[in-house]
Amino acid sequence: MKRLTILDLQKKKDQKEKLVAVTAYDATFASLVDDAVDVVLVGDSLGMVIQGHENTLSVSLDDMVYHTKAVNRKLTHAHLVVDMPFLTYQVSKEKAVQNAGTLLKAGAQSVKVEGGVEICETVCTLTKLGIPVMGHVGLTPQSVHQLGGFRVQGKESYQKDQLIRDAKHLEEAGAYAVVLESIPQDLAQEITHRLKIPTIGIGAGVYCDGQVLVIYDLLGMDPQFQPKFLKRYANLSETIQAAVQTYAREVREEKFPTEEHSFH
Ligand code: KIV
Repeated sequence: MKRLTILDLQKKKDQKEKLVAVTAYDATFASLVDDAVDVVLVGDSLGMVIQGHENTLSVSLDDMVYHTKAVNRKLTHAHLVVDMPFLTYQVSKEKAVQNAGTLLKAGAQSVKVEGGVEICETVCTLTKLGIPVMGHVGLTPQSVHQLGGFRVQGKESYQKDQLIRDAKHLEEAGAYAVVLESIPQDLAQEITHRLKIPTIGIGAGVYCDGQVLVIYDLLGMDPQFQPKFLKRYANLSETIQAAVQTYAREVREEKFPTEEHSFH
């Protein structure tokens, strides 16, 4: 099967077909989601859901390369976009090119960066050099301390205007799509209407061109994490805990393994 390209993703917006994106961080999940979605994101959310940190700031380029290689080995259909972690693209355009190139060498088909007008020169440099870029505005988790926490953005009218400008500038700088995270629905609708490139929402309402969710969230792996924007499509935390408890009990009661699981 042919891997989807940024041109295929644009075609979907043009044909009013919704884009479906999900995160994956390892080979097993990559092969499980590949057929069902258009885009797989190796998100720096791995700092939280894989590494157990409170935010994404400590994720390194080496971490992203490791997970990108694992995911890329199992994708045959979905487009693979990879987050550039904190401080791998903000310091200089040279560093950004070098680091984005490293992710492409690891198997990424495109990279994602957080921020608006302030990173557009970098986006322009990357895209002119042939490195496709997905933007990310609204709640940008790498700015969690500046934003004062993981909070909905763009509620005030001055913020709305700024976010529209950010998205528009990203498009002009050459971004092929933009993630809109945790912003009011009407603002996401306005941005989606004004942009030719696809918008991909998470906590941005029903009018975006596509949606993205963290795979562990949509599968219900963390019973504590219940934000308004999340719909759980499974309750795997209960399934996994019940399975492991049954396994533990059977080992302790000498019900597993049986003759059936033994070599003779
Ligand atoms: O890191 C991530 O998983 C993301 C998505 C939530 C958009 O940026």
